[in-house]
This record gives sequence, structure tokens and C-alpha cells, in this order.
Amino acid sequence: MTRNDLCWCGSGKKYKKCHMDFDEKINSMKFSFLKGQTRPPHKLINNEKDIEGIKKSGVINDGVLDLMAELIKPGVTTEELNTAAHEYITSHGAIPAPLNYGNFPKSICTSINDVVCHGIPSKKVVLQEGDIINIDSTTILDGYYADASRMYIVGGVCLPNAKRLVEVTKECLEIGIAAIKPWGWVGDIGAAVGAHARSNGYSVVTDLGGHGVGKEFHLEPFVQHTGKKETGMLLAPGMVLTVEPMINEGKRYITVDEKDGWTARTKDGKLSAQWEKTVLITETGTEILSS
Ligand code: MF3
Ligand code: CO
Ligand code: CO
Repeated sequence: MTRNDLCWCGSGKKYKKCHMDFDEKINSMKFSFLKGQTRPPHKLINNEKDIEGIKKSGVINDGVLDLMAELIKPGVTTEELNTAAHEYITSHGAIPAPLNYGNFPKSICTSINDVVCHGIPSKKVVLQEGDIINIDSTTILDGYYADASRMYIVGGVCLPNAKRLVEVTKECLEIGIAAIKPWGWVGDIGAAVGAHARSNGYSVVTDLGGHGVGKEFHLEPFVQHTGKKETGMLLAPGMVLTVEPMINEGKRYITVDEKDGWTARTKDGKLSAQWEKTVLITETGTEILSS
């Protein structure tokens, strides 16, 4: 690509006025093989139009999670939550990404107590007072994905240990996002999250993690929620990724339900919590696109 070509990002601008300095900066950087440092491929860099698209999808996705706050009550089934979410998403012109994704049968994930993630909504699952539940929603609008999840306490009150887990996991998410710096490294996120979780006596799920998101549901890089600073992929402006720590009260090990192939539970049966946001890396910091 030469100076006067159109930029590879699809902005329609000349390369020299768009990502030429960006490429030069990356080409001049040293990447440590020992730290597993890698360059982000161009497909992970979103242009203004892409960012607007993800942001619009995120507005609908946040609406789903707001709606769930109104509906979650003792006696409600997770099937009812799924139906309401599906109707909200489709009536706003979007598509629920989970539905039929790798045979996932529903439009949101509903993960209660010891369920770490990927719980499947069902008529048989009735919310009980004091349950902690994660609702994970991903919408697709005009081809753009926005992915976020929140924890809810059924009936508003739960045991103190459950409440502390939910709160500390939220802190883990915020601390992980605060660790994201343009021209930093993906490992900075896990280093910050892991330290906070462990200092509170919790463990971090390592089998699953965050991911690049935007024009596809799951892109590089894999975002670990524990690990070492300055390792992994370079974080460059225009990248969009999720931070979604899964934090366990007991050990970090999980098992996936053999029958449904999806529901991930803690091996020891203890509680797990998760919060997720879709985060854009900007020239100066970060911007939340869905939460
Ligand atoms: N939303 C989840 C994530 O944060 C993925 C769910 S996959 C599904 O990456 F098929 F279970 F929906
Ligand atoms: Co999600
Ligand atoms: Co995600």
C-alpha cells in the first residue's frame, strides 16, 4: 500500500491521511517473543462506520439488559426472560446472536448460581428469591455485534457471600477495563483482574474468556482474565473487545453439561459470577459500546 492508495481500513481516505502512521508505529515496535507479544491483524481494526454500527447495536443490547432488570422476580422462568428478550431484539430490527450459534437453542444465556455461563433458558427453570443470575445478551444490527452481560439478584436480597461475589466481580470488570491502554497489551487486562479476584479469595475461570467482537461474534484476541502484564496481543486504537471475567467463590474448574453441550457449571458446586462489556480502544483510552 502506498501513500496515496485508499486506506485498508475502508474509511475511503488516503492511506497517508489514515492508518499510515499507525502501521509505521507498529512496524517500528519491538515484539517480545518470550512475552508472546503479537501484532493485531488489520481485520481487527474498525473504522468510524464500523464503530458507529457496533455502538447502535449496543444501544439495543443495553436495552435488553435494562428490560431484564424489570422482569427478574421470584416465580419467573428463564424461558419467559428469553421470550421477552427475543421480542425486544427483533422488534428493534436486530437479531439475537446466540440463537442457532453452534446449535445454541435460545436468544440469551441465563446462568444461575453455580452456572458459570451459557445457561439455556427453560420453562423448567423458575427463579427463586436470593438466586444470583447472569443474563448475557448479544445483538446483531446491520451485521454489527454488541455483547454484554450483567448480574441480577432475584428479589433484591441474597446471602452476603453471594452479594460480595457479585460486587467483587463487577469490580474485576471495571479494573480490567481500566487496565486497557492504547498501545498496551491484552495481558494487562488479565493481570489486573486476576490480582483483584485473588486478593478477595476468589478464583478466575481460565477455560473461557473475552474476545474481539464487531463484524463477528468471536474474534481474536482471546482475553484471559488472569495472566501477566505486557504479554499477548498489542491493543491498538480501533480494536473492539469484550472484558467478561467469570469469578468463582471456590476453585476455577468448570464442567460443561454432557446432555445440552452448553451449560458450564463450577466443578465444586460453589457460586460463580460474571459481568461483561464491549469496549472500544480509542487514541486516548477506551469507550464502552455495550454494558
Ligand atoms: N455471549 C457469550 C460471550 O460473551 C457467548 C454466548 S455463545 C452462546 O461470548 F451460544 F451461548 F450464546
Ligand atoms: Co456475552
Ligand atoms: Co463475550
